[in-house]
Amino acid sequence: VIVSTVEEGFEPACHRETGGWLSDVIVGQFRRPHGMLGSLAGWIMANRASNIDRNHWTVELMGLDAGARILEIGCGPGIGIEAVLSGVPDCRVTGLDHSALMISQAAARHAHALKSDRLELWQGDLVGLPEAERFDAVFSSNVLQFIRNRSALLEEVQSRLKPGGCFATTFRPRGSCAGAEEGRAWISSFAEDLCVAGFFEVQIRERPFGSVPAFCALAQNP
Ligand SMILES: C[S@@+](CC[C@H](N)C(=O)[O-])C[C@H]1O[C@@H](n2cnc3c(N)ncnc32)[C@H](O)[C@@H]1O
Repeated sequence: VIVSTVEEGFEPACHRETGGWLSDVIVGQFRRPHGMLGSLAGWIMANRASNIDRNHWTVELMGLDAGARILEIGCGPGIGIEAVLSGVPDCRVTGLDHSALMISQAAARHAHALKSDRLELWQGDLVGLPEAERFDAVFSSNVLQFIRNRSALLEEVQSRLKPGGCFATTFRPRGSCAGAEEGRAWISSFAEDLCVAGFFEVQIRERPFGSVPAFCALAQNP
């Protein structure tokens, strides 16, 4: 695993406070947004500058060629979709999310790309995504920490990627006292699982976004 870090701007690691029921409600709305609070969660994701920057960073790290076929897992309100549509010429994108509310926000945000066939949106999880052509790249930002069966997920991602295709996973620790150490621990464990699953060229990148850094694990499909 190759680790590349940018050390500026980090806060010291500290212990996460136990948040209680309110924290559970908030986390639940970012895991599967629904109802009025879910609309608010979608609005926050779509408007928070650090979230927009993190999605653009993830797409830049993949270094994709024009015309790439790209899947985003957990597309939320469509900020990662915006990053690929604007950053990768002539790409075709599939956005996947199990929240009907997020799919409708992403559809409203990208009505033009849907009409022009540059974008498809699917409500559900990865296993339910119809099999069509394989993807040049699969990515997600702040989603895979919610997935319980990681080895099943990695197997599914491999089956959806072309040989040599790129897989990027970005994670930013959350919570009132989340810090860099928590993020490093999570991404390192994820990178180890990528190696075990048979991915090649596994790398970790780290960059400050606001007060807490984000981490991206990049890997190549066999
Ligand atoms: C914290 S939000 C991040 C959204 C977006 N990636 C962004 O950076 O703005 C997590 C998103 O992943 C979706 N999600 C979580 N688990 C999922 C799963 N197993 N399958 C599909 N979508 C999932 C949620 O519905 C939510 O929209």
